[in-house]
Amino acid sequence: DKGNYRHFMLKEIYEQPTVVGQTIATMVDPLHGTTTLPEFPFDLAAIERVTIIACGTSFYAGMVAKYWLEQMARINVEVDIASEFRYREAVMPPGGLAIFISQSGETADTLAALRYAKSQGQHILTIVNVPQSSMERESDIVLQTHAGPEVGVASTKAFTCQLSVLACLSIAVAKARGKIDHAEEERLVNALTEVPARMAEVLNHDEAIEALADDMSKARDVIYLGRGPEYPIAMEGALKLKEISYIHAEGYAAGEMKHGPIALIDELVPIIVIAPTGRLFEKTVSNMQEVIARKGRVIFITDEEGSQANGHDAEATIALPMLDEFVTPLLYAIPVQLLSYHVAVAKGTDVDQPRNLAKSVTVE
Ligand code: M6R
Repeated sequence: DKGNYRHFMLKEIYEQPTVVGQTIATMVDPLHGTTTLPEFPFDLAAIERVTIIACGTSFYAGMVAKYWLEQMARINVEVDIASEFRYREAVMPPGGLAIFISQSGETADTLAALRYAKSQGQHILTIVNVPQSSMERESDIVLQTHAGPEVGVASTKAFTCQLSVLACLSIAVAKARGKIDHAEEERLVNALTEVPARMAEVLNHDEAIEALADDMSKARDVIYLGRGPEYPIAMEGALKLKEISYIHAEGYAAGEMKHGPIALIDELVPIIVIAPTGRLFEKTVSNMQEVIARKGRVIFITDEEGSQANGHDAEATIALPMLDEFVTPLLYAIPVQLLSYHVAVAKGTDVDQPRNLAKSVTVE
């Protein structure tokens, strides 16, 4: 049931403060500022290496987790798409942790990759949304996302719930490895529990985002730029736009622009720059300025401070609420979802059932 929403996708975007809140609540104790993951059937502290495998949007959640795990838990992380991983005969020293991320739990390539990792003596952890899935049955431990049924082919709430689980897991691994003390754990948990309320505020920007859609719907190509954990968000934004609006889009690491893609920039190409304030802000802003100097039309997605500092540089600026840098990917996922949704509506495509796509890809 779509309720009062025009499409399932929009309803699912709006459910995010609730379902992300529910997912986080299953894995943290906000009172004591600790994570409360279920007991693992193996020793987390003994893990030396993590491999994360998924497809599509779930893969981008995995890419974000690589930044988190490396930075907080100081552990070696590899991320790959399942269709490549399953055939490339990866070397996996026994005892490693292999994490599989899937909304459906039925994606054929991800399942095959899981079986390969198992054959290589890895501990298998899956993050799935649909209960009792094939992947769940073949795992050593399952962390469930509580997004509820996701009907729109374009994944939205499942993605932010995956990020929520991965954020909790990253804190837990960091703790198990002795890389963070309790004060730091508490700070991270607090940042995470603040997310649902900030997400609700982000949804208040819906009209401002919708106002950009008409113009963008006329574009032939769109480029999304981000750095660090916002780089996967740029890729996710581009994927969302491609799949429901059929506009060619690419997500790029902002710093990679000058190595080729900047040649694409002219006044016809909208560029979405995703840059919360923090460690990488100045770097991304300087990439934005390079694009503006080449007549690129920039939509700048930042926070209130970022908007004050550089909002005037861009053609349009969306200023999100301030939030701890750690959890910004959860928040910045929403404006790119809304943007692709409104562009698709402006183009008149079938938002919930885009051409050539299936919700669950159970064949190779
Ligand atoms: O069910 P899964 O998470 O394994 O699905 C993976 C991809 O097929 C999926 O994320 C796809 O990319 C979405 N349509 C993206 O919106």
